[in-house]
Amino acid sequence: MVFLSTFARNFNSNWMDKILVIGCSGQIGSELTLELRKIYGDSKVIATDIRPAPPDVAGSGPFEILDVLDASKLQLILEHEKVTQIYHLAAILSGNAEKRPLPSWDINMRSLMNVLELARELKIRKIFWPSSIAVFGPTTPRFDTPQFTIMEPNTVYGISKLAGERWIEYYFNKYGVDTRSLRYPGLISYKTEAGGGTTDYAVEIFYEAIQHKKYDCFLGPESALPMMFMPDAIKATIDVMEADSAKLSLRSSYNVAGISFTPAVLASEIKKHIPEFEITYTPDFRQAIANSWPARIDDSVAKKDWGLNYQYDLSKMTTVMLNEISNKLRS
Ligand code: NAD
Ligand code: SER
Repeated sequence: MVFLSTFARNFNSNWMDKILVIGCSGQIGSELTLELRKIYGDSKVIATDIRPAPPDVAGSGPFEILDVLDASKLQLILEHEKVTQIYHLAAILSGNAEKRPLPSWDINMRSLMNVLELARELKIRKIFWPSSIAVFGPTTPRFDTPQFTIMEPNTVYGISKLAGERWIEYYFNKYGVDTRSLRYPGLISYKTEAGGGTTDYAVEIFYEAIQHKKYDCFLGPESALPMMFMPDAIKATIDVMEADSAKLSLRSSYNVAGISFTPAVLASEIKKHIPEFEITYTPDFRQAIANSWPARIDDSVAKKDWGLNYQYDLSKMTTVMLNEISNKLRS
């Protein structure tokens, strides 16, 4: 089945495509790069980051150090490699951005503007840039948050994501740059550590449960947030990039709901596997960020436009996370 679906994607993909991943060493990039290489071919996916790549990314295809704020070097790579698609993943996430507001704003916005301007000038075929549930704010309806609603984010990260959504839509309307985007919920994965976000507790908890049988959570027990397991996020990302352009009614960013749960609910799911596991709660500055984000969002537009779907629920994801992290820690 896996072979068939990979074959079907290959068949549909443009064999001439050359893909640039910016931010390949992060939580998403380290997995997305490998998946793209399976589909398009190892040599067709150029991985870049400001820091070294994980061994499997660096070892399976081209890798270059790139600071995406360096527009000249970005242009050189795009022209030299004849890049046709960009996945721009580099950003400073919510928790870290609150610690260094202005440098984070600069990285998040200037990197996007470099990518959009070069995409326009060089006629890059398609751009993926992720937005986030952080575009919503305390005045947004928290349950079944609609695609179109009040958006008054009060974090540096959220403001940068909302501004980014406006810019990618602008470049599509004004210059015809084919921009595509998802409002990712918190992403959960076992391969690469999360990058300084508010939803990171839902990754840390698994390592602590396995190693120490306890976890002190930086969010309170009832902080419900939308989350998504990485394989579903990778699939949704590639699906929206491969969707027929005519089917995309949105060029800002699509709501993606995933699975919503609280720290208390996740802890009781883990307890089914590790009965002695105990969770305590010491909320820090990230609690205020979590309180300003939706608990559950409505992703019906993505389902209707390009068939967004998920394979993992909370129970299936918890089982895989515990097994994979146990294996990783053993080896
Ligand atoms: P991450 O922090 O794990 O990875 C980001 C990568 O960008 C890092 O490897 C970092 O070295 C690189 N980077 C930072 N500055 C750079 C620069 N100047 N030049 C080149 N590379 C640079 O983040 P992630 O979780 O992989 O997130 C990727 C994208 O997805 C970001 O735009 C983020 O806002 C978005 N997103 C992530 C989540 C999540 O839960 N992980 C949720 C919503 C949206
Ligand atoms: N997981 C991300 C964060 O917490 C959401 O964009 O910053």
